Amino acid sequence: MTNQINGTEAAIDWFRAASPYINAHRGKTLVICVPGSALRSELLPTLTHDLTLLSHIGLRLVLCFGIREQVDEQLAQTHIKGHIVAGRRVTDPQALSAIISAAGLVRNDLEARLSMGLPNTPMAGARLAVTSGNFVTAQPFGVHGGLDFQHTGSVREIHQNAIQALLNAGHLVLLPPLGYSLTGDVFNVTATEVASAAAIALKADKLVFLVNALPRDTDGSVVRQASANQIQKLYGVSEATVISQTEQSPDKEPEETAQGTGDTSLDQILGTAVQACLHGVQRVHLLANDNPDALLSELFTRDGSGTLITAERWDHIRPASISDVGGIIELITPLQANGTLVSRSREALELDIDRFVVSERDGMVVSCAAMYLEDDSSTAEIACMATHPDYRGQGRADQLLTHLEKQARRQSFRHARILSTHTGHWFIARGYSELALEDLPANRRASYNQARNSKIYQKRL
Ligand SMILES: CC(C)(COP(=O)(O)OP(=O)(O)OC[C@H]1O[C@@H](n2cnc3c(N)ncnc32)[C@H](O)[C@@H]1OP(=O)(O)O)[C@@H](O)C(=O)NCCC(=O)NCCS
Repeated sequence: MTNQINGTEAAIDWFRAASPYINAHRGKTLVICVPGSALRSELLPTLTHDLTLLSHIGLRLVLCFGIREQVDEQLAQTHIKGHIVAGRRVTDPQALSAIISAAGLVRNDLEARLSMGLPNTPMAGARLAVTSGNFVTAQPFGVHGGLDFQHTGSVREIHQNAIQALLNAGHLVLLPPLGYSLTGDVFNVTATEVASAAAIALKADKLVFLVNALPRDTDGSVVRQASANQIQKLYGVSEATVISQTEQSPDKEPEETAQGTGDTSLDQILGTAVQACLHGVQRVHLLANDNPDALLSELFTRDGSGTLITAERWDHIRPASISDVGGIIELITPLQANGTLVSRSREALELDIDRFVVSERDGMVVSCAAMYLEDDSSTAEIACMATHPDYRGQGRADQLLTHLEKQARRQSFRHARILSTHTGHWFIARGYSELALEDLPANRRASYNQARNSKIYQKRL
């Protein structure tokens, strides 16, 4: 009984914590790309339930799917081995016919699953309209390194007006990895390319890829958040990665992928993610396809579960130096004058400059924050966070906060704390909870400024 009550309370708490995200996601366009292997796994029932749920809370959904495993299986039945080069299939007539058949079967399966609505199931009462069609125009991928890819195509155009009209009417749009040409031919296009082109054309808010493994940092830890720029630096992938892997010198045979078949490689997905970011998609999420909760936890919890790649150029965040003091003063003076920030003299700022990080634009400091790490404490205190009014709402403070929290975590600090008179809700939305003054350690309580009467917020790192 107690367990049941605890479980109910946890569910209610989770629902409350998720409500800001529910509001934030309503009306947003999400393109999701699911590899063929994931469609055959235990993930599928949960995924279709979750997509229905997302549609019902007002997300505009485009579902792109791969069919590589399904096609290879069909070809194997006639003793034909699939021929994949640098992540793209060489589509001869037999492969094309297997592709058309597999795409049809998967599409029917998805449509059936997304139509479920039996009582006492997560889909009860759901009436989700699912639509597919000739929304992708393709052109031949062509001959590369002397190899004719035959019926393999690349995306020429996404018919975004037609898709937008369906999304406006509440339909989930299903995009198979197929494109049609002006000559009436059918082309095999990678699901990754269809998803990325659709996200760019639709100006999607989010592009989501389900992947076999999340990208890892040089220290082996999973990359939770990075800019397209950082991904380019970390992995050497670029906008051209997908093409360059296939464009080889004419005297060199194109390489077969190591495993011959299988899902698109992580490098190719990262290259596609970077390309999408450079073309205006603000957020690309990579989610592990062995975690059935990944999609909901990515969308409805602050820390998410996968890797978030943002269009914003994070390399603009850097430690402050003494030459930034003037810029920081200019930024914070109006906020000190109206009491939002604690007043700091130029001398104090100069002494503390090593504690500051800044985000700059065109050589000007547009955002700053400081972090105070006390050796004898497990808590890092974040302070003096500000963004110039002209640059607010672009995620800069969010990035500074994430950067500082990451730094504190690396130094084994267990909590981050902030004192604020005006901006509590901004921190609450980022996982902080209010603390009472009595909860502060005695030494910090002693230096607490009673006249400011700031509220105290803390988050577990
Ligand atoms: C709070 C502040 C640092 C945010 O900077 P920013 O770079 O615009 O932050 P982000 O872009 O990451 O976040 C912007 C979001 O926070 C919201 N936000 C801004 N101020 C907020 C507040 N006081 N309470 C709740 N949300 C707030 C914005 O509406 C915006 O929401 P949206 O993304 O849904 O449009 C900036 O508004 C500022 O300089 N404020 C004055 C100084 C201050 O209060 N500092 C914090 C105390 S240390």
